[in-house]
Amino acid sequence: MEDRSRRSLLYVPASSEPMLRKAGTRGADVLIVDLEDGVLPSAKEAAREQAQRLWHALDFGGAEPWLRVNGAGTPWVYADAEAARQLQPAAVVLPKCEDPGVVETISRRLPDVPLLLMVETAAGVLAAAALARVPGVAGLVFGAADFRASVGARRTPDEEELLVARSTLVIAARAAEIRVFDTPYFDFADTEGLERSARRARTLGFDGKTAIHPAQVAPIHAAFAPTPAEVERARAVLRALEQAARDGRGVAAVDGEMVEPLHAAEARRTLALAADPAATGREP
Ligand code: COA
Ligand code: MG
Repeated sequence: MEDRSRRSLLYVPASSEPMLRKAGTRGADVLIVDLEDGVLPSAKEAAREQAQRLWHALDFGGAEPWLRVNGAGTPWVYADAEAARQLQPAAVVLPKCEDPGVVETISRRLPDVPLLLMVETAAGVLAAAALARVPGVAGLVFGAADFRASVGARRTPDEEELLVARSTLVIAARAAEIRVFDTPYFDFADTEGLERSARRARTLGFDGKTAIHPAQVAPIHAAFAPTPAEVERARAVLRALEQAARDGRGVAAVDGEMVEPLHAAEARRTLALAADPAATGREP
């Protein structure tokens, strides 16, 4: 998958022509045209046909267009995969992944399209490391609503019930050197809660966060942007390490904390993100 910034990923139900037509104006880095849970079972075929009819006429406005298909084991998955093969979206999102073998079968049907796997059930979280290593998989995506239902968790303001699952996804993705994106925040009227959730996602190591409403795009971008204090510290870290190198030392102190060369890469990434968030993706 191309190296670019993917801070916000907006789900757009394929059943809504008005939402599809204006989706490119919402400022999201990625648009996930959705055939799965954003579409009623009775509307699945019509939504897929609408996506096929409109896809090449839509103005995605510079956003990267992805397609979320229905999950393995549903009656729609193979027709959805066939639509994906024809449309060639920048990536396909496969929901409720649990079994690497099943993912391999679907990946073989879509040899040229990067796959993003949703990990959103207890079995999925336990299989995350193996799922992340299936050939053709470009990233993992967390889904909190299905996850809470799967494990019987309650929703808390600080999302503490999600911490282990979220970190498991980040670790599995990084071990496989692929991307990782966080769950949407479903209470779209609660901007403060969204900001907290997006900051948490960035803190845990996610590359970006999915969204269900256009109003969530700007707060997500703000949360993924380095704060002025982080920028200041990144500069200080680089200065201190350069000085240490000149003095023949491998480590330096910044604000009473030891920093070493591994912190230089993170500091440079912070400065690059601050300079041009839209142009800077995470490596690789
Ligand atoms: N993608 C694109 N456009 C969207 C959108 C989305 N996900 N959600 C809302 N919009 C548009 C609306 O069509 C409206 O457009 P307008 O500017 O032409 O009037 C504008 O944003 C404001 O929407 P608003 O009236 O505040 O929201 P709503 O009450 O119409 O819809 C939801 C609220 C939650 C039903 C809607 O946001 C939605 O369907 N989200 C996607 C849900 C989804 O994909 N779920 C599955 C993934 S978890
Ligand atoms: Mg889901």
